[in-house]
Amino acid sequence: MKTLIFALFFGFLSTTSGIAIAASAGVHLEPVEIDLSDKASLQRGAQTFVNYCLSCHEAAYMRYNRMGQDLGLTDTQVKENLMFASEKVGDTMTVAMQAEDAKKWFGVTPPDLSVISRARGTAWLNSYLRSFYLDDAKAMGTNNTVFKDVGMPHVLWEQQGYLDHDEESGHLSEATEGDLSSYDYDLMVADLVNFLAYIGEPSKIQRLELAKWVLLYLFILFLVVYPMKKAFWRDIH
Ligand code: HEC
Repeated sequence: MKTLIFALFFGFLSTTSGIAIAASAGVHLEPVEIDLSDKASLQRGAQTFVNYCLSCHEAAYMRYNRMGQDLGLTDTQVKENLMFASEKVGDTMTVAMQAEDAKKWFGVTPPDLSVISRARGTAWLNSYLRSFYLDDAKAMGTNNTVFKDVGMPHVLWEQQGYLDHDEESGHLSEATEGDLSSYDYDLMVADLVNFLAYIGEPSKIQRLELAKWVLLYLFILFLVVYPMKKAFWRDIH
């Protein structure tokens, strides 16, 4: 019984720790804490996502009302804060921009971000969103140390400001000031990545909540079964 409890407990731990495979050679990736039980962080991440990402990227597997439920928001709150007036809460998070236009403007169609956290890993996303730098050679005026020659502009430049990149050392340094301190910018990105991790696997939130009850159930079961086992064996010894 003890071993069973341990096995279940560690099984539970390993499913919540989020194993991510980062696939970029050479660049340093900065890990970020993912906490799907932090609803306030997820809500802030959702806000950033709809304001700054959803104009180009979709999350076509995610429905607004499902997201609202998971993040502890009512349909009205979701409607007022996270949606455009024309959409219905049962809609998925799609974009108004036509794929062909996007291709014309950026050379590539911005990919759907529903499962990007699983494809790239959260450390990669965290680093990517912090690593845009000024580069005159690019049409956008910016480049990225984590995703070289990326077709995406630095959409959070107002918050972060712009960075310079030193080719030799590989270091990034501040070129222009943003509205946020670098500490606060990192927090903003962390919330956004937390949100991207959530949309990558929305059922995980429910599993985490269920897991608590399963553990409690096992614990109570143990309290009942252990004295019973003792009682059964008493006469045999
Ligand atoms: C102005 C349009 C635009 C906006 C706004 C935008 N992106 Fe992008 N994004 C792109 C394009 C275009 C690409 C494809 C880049 C490429 O493949 O070269 C891209 C690529 C990405 C990638 C890499 C995908 C991959 O191939 O692994 C991620 C991650 C990403 N964007 C996240 C975001 C996030 C998060 C936001 C909001 C903060 C955002 N983007 C806002 C245009 C945009």
